[in-house]
Amino acid sequence: MITLTTIAELRAQLDADRASGLRVGFVPTMGFLHDGHVSLIDAAVAANDRTVVSIFVNPLQFAEGEDLEDYPRDLDADAARCEAAGADYVFAPPVEEMYPRPVDTVVTVPDVSAPLEGVHRPTHFAGVATVVNKLFAIVGPCRAYFGAKDWQQVAVVTRMVSDLSIPVEVVPCPIVRESDGLAMSSRNVYLSSAERDQAPALRRALDAGLAALRAGERDSGSVEARMRAVLSEDAPGGVVDYAAAVSADGLTADGPLAGDVRLLLAVKFSKARLIDNDGLTIS
Ligand code: PAJ
Repeated sequence: MITLTTIAELRAQLDADRASGLRVGFVPTMGFLHDGHVSLIDAAVAANDRTVVSIFVNPLQFAEGEDLEDYPRDLDADAARCEAAGADYVFAPPVEEMYPRPVDTVVTVPDVSAPLEGVHRPTHFAGVATVVNKLFAIVGPCRAYFGAKDWQQVAVVTRMVSDLSIPVEVVPCPIVRESDGLAMSSRNVYLSSAERDQAPALRRALDAGLAALRAGERDSGSVEARMRAVLSEDAPGGVVDYAAAVSADGLTADGPLAGDVRLLLAVKFSKARLIDNDGLTIS
C-alpha cells in the first residue's frame, strides 16, 4: 500500500493503473477509521482491482463553532487499518494541497440538502458536495462507497452524480454498529461515560418507530412522538435536533407514510452530535 499526499502523485499512479485496464474503487473518509469505514473498504476491495481511501478532514463542511480543530486524527493507525483491509492507496493531502486558495467554485444540491441536517447545519452539504466532486475528479473511480449511516449525505451525493453526469457508481453500504446498537462514528470518542451509556437509546428509538410502523401506524407525527418518548426517557442528557419519519426518497412527509419509509434521528450531547437512521418498506 502506498500513502500519497499530492494530487499529481495519486493521478500518476491511477492513470497507469487505468491504462492497464484496472478498475478503481474509492472510499472517501475524514479518517480516525473504525469498523464502519473498514466495511466500505472491504466492499471496495471485493469489487474493484484497485482501492483508494482518502483521509481528509474537509474544512468546507464544518461551520464556525463546529469541531474542525478538535476532529480526531490518527494517520498512522488509519494507514495500518487501510493496509490490513487490502487498500492499495491512501490519499492524505494537507489542506493546502486541496485548497491552495480560497474556493470560489461550490457545488450545492439545495433541495436534497434542505430538510433534517440542512436545518441544523445549513452550509454542511455544500461543503460535502464540493469536496466529493473534487475527490471524484482527482481519483476518477468507477465506484465510490458511502455509508447509509449518513443517509442524507448519500442522497446528496447520488443526486449530484446524476445531475452532473459524473461517471461513477455510488454504492451505499449498511450501518455498522457496536454490540449495544450504537452506530459507529469517529465522533463517539467525544461522549462522556454517562453519555455513552445513554447513546444506544437512538437504536431503541428507531426500533420503537419501526415497531409502530409494523403495527400499522401511518401518521409521521405519531411515529416521531414514539421515537422522542424513548429518547427523553433513555437519553435525558441529549437534545433532539430531529426525530423524523419521512419518505426515503424525498426525505419529507406529505400525508400518510407509504412505500419506502426512513426514520432519522439527530441528538446532541455535550460535545458529540449523534445521527442514526433505519427504514422499512410498507407494502
Ligand atoms: P466520515 O464521517 O469519515 O465517513 C466516511 C464514510 O464512512 C461515509 O460514507 C460514512 O457514511 C461512512 N460511515 C461512517 N460511520 C459508519 C458506520 N457506522 N457504518 C457504515 N458506514 C459508516 O462522511 C464523511 O466522512 C465526509 O462527509 C466525506 C464523505 C468523506 C466528505 O468529506
